[in-house]
Amino acid sequence: MDRLKGKVAIITGATSGMGRDTAYVFAEEGAKVVITGRDEARAKEVVDTIKKNGGEAMYVIADIADRSQLDKIVDETLAAYGTVDILYNNAGMLSLTDSMNIGMEEWDKAMQVNVTSALVLAQRVAPIMKAKGKGAIINTGSVAGTSATWGPVGYCTSKHAVNGLTKALAREMGPEIRVNAILPGAIVTAMLDSVGGEAAMDGMKQRSPLKRVGQGREIGTVALFLATDDSSFMTGQLLRVDGGVDA
Ligand SMILES: NC(=O)c1ccc[n+]([C@@H]2O[C@H](COP(=O)([O-])OP(=O)(O)OC[C@H]3O[C@@H](n4cnc5c(N)ncnc54)[C@H](OP(=O)(O)O)[C@@H]3O)[C@@H](O)[C@H]2O)c1
Repeated sequence: MDRLKGKVAIITGATSGMGRDTAYVFAEEGAKVVITGRDEARAKEVVDTIKKNGGEAMYVIADIADRSQLDKIVDETLAAYGTVDILYNNAGMLSLTDSMNIGMEEWDKAMQVNVTSALVLAQRVAPIMKAKGKGAIINTGSVAGTSATWGPVGYCTSKHAVNGLTKALAREMGPEIRVNAILPGAIVTAMLDSVGGEAAMDGMKQRSPLKRVGQGREIGTVALFLATDDSSFMTGQLLRVDGGVDA
């Protein structure tokens, strides 16, 4: 309890999946959590749940595929809470078309949602964190960002780019700001459902020494570690949270 007391955390893609579970973990630890996504009904539900449990949260509706909507995430956070201590770039999209068939519209959108939005939001919050002398940015890669085994070209390339972005931001935004990434394996969420759910992940389960897929909260607790001083000597790191599928 209270490991994030008084901290303000923006979590993109917190209307669903592991972003939502992380929002609950951060709120339980005393953070003021900013929920973002496109779906207002689900955003409101997450905020209501946090408040019902005694926490503090607000939501900002923004489509991060549209670069012009990114500023309002930070602007509305500052208007309500006055600062930002943690930025968790979690929102992401699948792109499942192969390299011979992917169109530039799909390619550009995957890059914007999975990579560029994280850079732009980091650019916005960095001066605030630097002025405070402290901040944590957490990006979201994937096991699909470590080889081409787990995803076709748009998803694979965008998630590989998250790794480079994380290292470059860590180097360029230190010493005040630590930047790390979580690389999830198969986690039970709406995104996993969209590709056949847990049943479709049998191969991944068998490759895992733990013989199961993960739950959103198992990402949330790693995000909590990266957001707190428990990880104070870590920056530029890519943490696979994947049940050891390639171990
Ligand atoms: N689940 C897995 O097995 C897995 C594995 C590896 C990596 N990941 C990564 O983990 C992250 C979270 O995914 P998840 O599995 O939790 O998926 P999810 O349940 O489908 O949640 C995705 C979240 O991203 C938001 N989002 C998507 N496109 C957006 C856009 N254009 N503008 C604003 N928000 C947008 C969604 O909000 P709205 O619907 O409200 O817009 C939603 O809150 C993603 O980056 C994903 O690539 C997932």
